[in-house]
Amino acid sequence: MDKIVILDFGSQTTQLIARRIRELGVFCQIFDGESTITKELLKDTKGIILSGSPFSVYEKGAPKPHPSVFLTGLPVLGICYGFQQMTMIHNGIVDASATKEYGKAPVSILCESELFNGVPDGFSSWMSHGDSLKKLGEDFDLIAESENHPAAGFNKKLNLYGLQFHPEVSHCDYGKKILSNYIFKICESDKSWNMDIFMDIISQEIKIKVGNNKVLLLISGGVDSSVVAGMLLKILPAQNIFLMYIDTGLMRKNETEEIDIYLKSLGAENIQIINASSMFLDELKGISDPEKKREIIGDLFIRIQSRELPNELKNNYILAQGTLYTDFIESGKGVGNKAKAIKSHHNVSSPMVEAKRNAGLIIEPLEELFKDEVRQLGIALGIDSRIISRHPFPGPGLAVRIIGDITKEKVSILQEADYLFIQELKTRNLYNKIWQAFCVLLPVKSVGVTGDAREYGYVLALRAITSVDGMTADVYPFNTSDLLEISSIITNTIPEIGRVVYDISSKPPATIEWE
Ligand code: XMP
Repeated sequence: MDKIVILDFGSQTTQLIARRIRELGVFCQIFDGESTITKELLKDTKGIILSGSPFSVYEKGAPKPHPSVFLTGLPVLGICYGFQQMTMIHNGIVDASATKEYGKAPVSILCESELFNGVPDGFSSWMSHGDSLKKLGEDFDLIAESENHPAAGFNKKLNLYGLQFHPEVSHCDYGKKILSNYIFKICESDKSWNMDIFMDIISQEIKIKVGNNKVLLLISGGVDSSVVAGMLLKILPAQNIFLMYIDTGLMRKNETEEIDIYLKSLGAENIQIINASSMFLDELKGISDPEKKREIIGDLFIRIQSRELPNELKNNYILAQGTLYTDFIESGKGVGNKAKAIKSHHNVSSPMVEAKRNAGLIIEPLEELFKDEVRQLGIALGIDSRIISRHPFPGPGLAVRIIGDITKEKVSILQEADYLFIQELKTRNLYNKIWQAFCVLLPVKSVGVTGDAREYGYVLALRAITSVDGMTADVYPFNTSDLLEISSIITNTIPEIGRVVYDISSKPPATIEWE
């Protein structure tokens, strides 16, 4: 199978490049940006892409491609920082620019090239760079420019191409077309990758890695761990798979019962459901800081997991997790560890998980995928569509949707409100049009009136967003009548809630969750 290699210099969008290539039907592999050219790297490789980076090419510790990368004869495409490194190595000049470009920028095409085949002059690109090219590398020709800077160049002799903008970002018009030109017209790759092939590859890897060992998978109730459960039960003998679900008491209403039914339907033989809600509530008592909440929950998960470890796993076991690519990148763990940390996810960064990872005793079959790709995989595996289409749910659960301190009373109010909201979305055929919807219980009370009496009730915020991968999000544009009806249903059913508001913030600048 033909493949494209991506050398990663720590960009937040490296996996987006990979994902676009997969969408175009070609297999790709990501290597550390500073890798030397090895047989493994070159095996079936048709082209090499150099990613962007949070570094400036002049910064101390800035990662550099090995010069041999440019001598393989394979077409090399540098994107943003990758283009700048390519330029420096070929005696061009990169400089801190006075006019930085962020966001949309129109690009003029200066001459014909295979890279821009079928792309109109003046198309809108997506830029994100502080440094820019002052002088192209030796034997490079300029093929496109933005208002202020060179936007693309190529060196026909050495088969090198460079783009200052990010074709992988969905906001870049014709970005996918440009990547398609690179992988099919320039690299001449065959279209040979799809989810079934991914499943075959991953199954073989898992079988080899696990052998006759036992596997422990923590089930969270979300799509990712559910898909991994379905996958493992398809690949490995059921008696070797141990599924552990810890009910933190911070789950959605009926979640525990639904998960139990689902896991049994998959043919799981070893299911452990641990009710630890009082432990979680005790340890979270009086805690308002969201990061502290995350830390307490992460630690407790690990303590309970080791305390409750089934006897069969006491000597040794392989840990399986449904970690997604976005969890790694937010935790600052790109392939070459050059990405900057945004938020720590305990399934990535906890010491116990890191120890397992360093010992090679972990399998994370979704580590290169985005949420919507996990859903496609779930469909390919024949997993129940009700599970696959469930909205994402954060690991710390309702703890990060109760702003401020958490009490049992607040948890039940929020569970009830969330249940009503989601049921209403389903009844109105809106659930599958929305990427994620939930309620947030605010730490303020407001005055209301019911009958002739004064009420002093909680304020509840509704959140509903559309997104492709959770990296950016838009507010779902409800019909006003739906919002008004849902609000009355909630306040009429839950007496403790006196007021409902709708969150109209996109991501960025807001995040999807409130904490
Ligand atoms: P944010 O709030 O960062 O959320 O815009 C993006 C997606 O990630 C989920 N999320 C989390 N998932 N542990 C998780 O497993 C967390 O600590 C966490 N925080 C946010 C969020 O629900 C959304 O789908």
